[in-house]
Amino acid sequence: MKHLIDIMELSPAELDTLLDTAEDIIANPGKYAEECRGKKLATLFFEPSTRTRLSFEAAMLELGGSVLGFSEAQSSSAAKGESVADTARVVGCYADIIAMRHPKEGAPLVASRVAGVPVINAGDGGHFHPTQTLADLLTIRREKGTLGNLTVGFCGDLKFGRTVHSLTAAMSRYAGSRFVFISPEELRIPEYVKSEVLAPRDVPFAEMRDLESAIQGLDVLYMTRVQKERFFNEADYVRLKDTYILTPEKLHRAKRELCIMHPLPRVNEIDVRVDDDPRACYFKQVLYGKYMRMALILLLLKEAGRI
Ligand code: CP
Repeated sequence: MKHLIDIMELSPAELDTLLDTAEDIIANPGKYAEECRGKKLATLFFEPSTRTRLSFEAAMLELGGSVLGFSEAQSSSAAKGESVADTARVVGCYADIIAMRHPKEGAPLVASRVAGVPVINAGDGGHFHPTQTLADLLTIRREKGTLGNLTVGFCGDLKFGRTVHSLTAAMSRYAGSRFVFISPEELRIPEYVKSEVLAPRDVPFAEMRDLESAIQGLDVLYMTRVQKERFFNEADYVRLKDTYILTPEKLHRAKRELCIMHPLPRVNEIDVRVDDDPRACYFKQVLYGKYMRMALILLLLKEAGRI
């Protein structure tokens, strides 16, 4: 593996290696504190981010490396019209590895072809967000003890939610996975996920409108934000944004071992009173994201012969 653009580029064995490495980092952080001494991570964020950018930076710092980069397109030469390819080629002269977020689908792939160093997709438009999926998989494995034989419910904006598409693809490779897609009509899971990801593996799934009817059968509930930035029409966003709000009352029918996840940022989808429920895993998910990014940086730099 030279880059990470799409989670499905990782073989199940590579995924296991990353998950096991992250678990080892959690157990033995001191062992990894100097692994990237003298190495530099560039974070090229053309779109806003809190978790992904800062967790990449924290990950590299905890590995003993350094970070450089920008957090908005306006503070880079993209504002003067420089292409993604030229930006990546230039930054590849300064850094050992690049994490890139971009509103255009495919931009990190373009960067990976010319940068000369490993490129990690930190989110491209409504397309993929593979490192969020790594965080999600580690969360599920640690909370449920397995990645197989689970019923995973996705709720909210399943059309634009790139984390939903990536996690569905990743989980569909584990035996016994079942999915429940809960959304309004306008934000249904895209057809390609059903026809190209689920159908070839005969993975069972259902589509529902009502969260309360679906909740009792779930092992994992993955809430998502309605993605305002992907809507063309403000009125549609306002009409749909509060379709689902998870409250303690709605959790009464859920399993005692339910794992409640959310990639964050949250807007209104989860009532803050749910934060005190032991089933709320979304802040653990944030922490696990840092460990998975540490494991990924290590793997890619080793593959590139840079450490
Ligand atoms: N989950 C996630 O991608 O969060 P940020 O947009 O803050 O990076």
